[in-house]
Amino acid sequence: MSQQPSSSASILEATGQKHLTQEERFEKVRTLVRPDSESASAALAAEVAALVRSREAEGRDTVLGLATGSTPVPFYRELIRLHREEGLSFRRVVTFNLDEYYGLPRDHPESYFRFMRDQLFDHVDLDPDRIHLPDGTVPMDAVYRHCLDYEQRIAEAGGLDLQILGIGRTGHIGFNEPGSAADSRTRMITLDRVTRQDAAADFMGMANVPRSAITMGVGTILEAKRLVLMAWGANKSAIVREAVEGAVSDQVSASFLQTHENATFLVDGEASADLTRFRFPWLVGPVEWDAPMKKRAVVWLARKLDKPVLKLVDEDYNESGAGELLASTSEAAYEVNIDIFNQVQHTITGWPGGKPGADDSRRPERSQPHPKRVLVLSPEPADAFVGMGGTLARLREQGHEVKVVFQTSGNLRVADIAALNFARVVLEMAESSHSPEWESQTAYARSIVEAIDAKGEFGIDPELVRRLKGLILRGEARDAASVCHLRYHDSEFLDLPFYESGRFRRFRLGEEDVRALVGVLESFRPHSVFATGEASDPSTPQAITYRAFATAWDSLAEADFRADCRVWLYRGRDRPFEAHEIDMAVPMSPDQLEDKVESIRRFMSINEADLNAPTRNREIAATYDALGLAEYEGIEAFRRGPQG
Ligand code: F6R
Repeated sequence: MSQQPSSSASILEATGQKHLTQEERFEKVRTLVRPDSESASAALAAEVAALVRSREAEGRDTVLGLATGSTPVPFYRELIRLHREEGLSFRRVVTFNLDEYYGLPRDHPESYFRFMRDQLFDHVDLDPDRIHLPDGTVPMDAVYRHCLDYEQRIAEAGGLDLQILGIGRTGHIGFNEPGSAADSRTRMITLDRVTRQDAAADFMGMANVPRSAITMGVGTILEAKRLVLMAWGANKSAIVREAVEGAVSDQVSASFLQTHENATFLVDGEASADLTRFRFPWLVGPVEWDAPMKKRAVVWLARKLDKPVLKLVDEDYNESGAGELLASTSEAAYEVNIDIFNQVQHTITGWPGGKPGADDSRRPERSQPHPKRVLVLSPEPADAFVGMGGTLARLREQGHEVKVVFQTSGNLRVADIAALNFARVVLEMAESSHSPEWESQTAYARSIVEAIDAKGEFGIDPELVRRLKGLILRGEARDAASVCHLRYHDSEFLDLPFYESGRFRRFRLGEEDVRALVGVLESFRPHSVFATGEASDPSTPQAITYRAFATAWDSLAEADFRADCRVWLYRGRDRPFEAHEIDMAVPMSPDQLEDKVESIRRFMSINEADLNAPTRNREIAATYDALGLAEYEGIEAFRRGPQG
């Protein structure tokens, strides 16, 4: 589709709406779509390097406005590479960061100052005197002055040549939460609840996330000569659409980019998925009416008109811009409706591992072999239960050999108090036993308490503590698995090294991680694999573990088990599949949904969103019901993976 013109265009030479094609006509700011965050970031870094070099050649500085968070990480990595391998110098670069949490000292592991040092500043030849971030430690009564000074310094540097932006799920740029005016300046702001939730994992719990921050204002940002907003992953697609196609509004501060004459959204395929040209392409131009496109359009039409599929009539198609679908097939609405209704109907199965002895020509999963070896990959321990707890239970009940592989230990999500409680129990047992046999356990428990005391509230856990936290989660995961009728030995814990040695937003996949997945696949030789993370923000454990699996899978192209293995994708924490995307819908009774909630509750580290999983299952069921299919309490949805 219209990805063609975009992928060759220069990012920094944005020219407002002038280049919009017919297909992009709903977009009010130029939006470039690249296949993935890596290639998009590399292209942007190359253009920034060219800008810096050309200005340096003219004897001028380049003033860059920088962002933190996971989005720009691959961009910074590429800048570092350009510095190391291609001689890009930052001597003539001046930087201003968008924001900083209020109340965090600069050496705090989650301060943006520390983040920028780790991700960029310490690895290039930037002059420390030319680095600027708001200071989160200025006393309250000095904040106003500090903000004025910050603005003043930007002006003295000649203004921002380029501002790099990410976008929060509230639509914020910098920390300009809903309600921030177009002319707002650098100031103190209270963080939105959603923003704090999104930062909870970094801070080991929502309670530790600062409540306020100092941020450049929308007005400050819009004064930059160029703006590039990057967004990756399915969880950003809805807010990207609002910012790009919606009205300019202070409720979505990124929408103000529509008013700037040189602003570009740079997004990956997943983050662009809700734009009209991708989501409803028939509304913006001719499309090829293949089977998936038809299904998508009919489901869309039924939902839009709030009618069951079988009640759509010719006029409904014509009046809603899908008349071409009928014209292209020369079928009447009635025939198209039946075809799509049947397709959706055939996604429903209570037999996610196939129904033995049944005709499977119209079932999502084949009946043979039975039982199957079913591999379920869970990026963090709770993911499999959040995404497919009900299906897990069914697979076991239907006699399959189910193996749940917990890919990471998830230990970064476990609160200190859980580890401390464990250590205290050991100490008390030792004390009450009055036996010297407890000496080594006592020493172990003491070292846990000391390590946690020593690191302070937000310090980084030493390996000993991370290991204990991982073991606590293991116990919870086994417990949750037993709620889904799995046996003790059905669980395997991989503790992938990228996670054990990393931190949120800064993980990096390594060869050892891929090797571990190869090992699992080779030894288990599954008939079906359930995986998740293919559309996640690329910095998350979900996306990284998916990449580890996909790479391992590709490397086993010749393995004989692959010829008879099907890959299913599930969604846990990411945007759920839409009805037209679903290839297998596993219904759940009220009791099964209850059991699923129970399994999720076994994790102390779960958050509100995880507990909300059944709501998503109910929503999918309600959509199927509204399309005219059977009414279930809940549905867990799956899609065939690209791996065959
Ligand atoms: C960070 C910033 C924020 C982030 C946004 C997205 O300096 O200003 O606007 O860009 O919250 O965060 P990530 O990239 O972590 O999804």
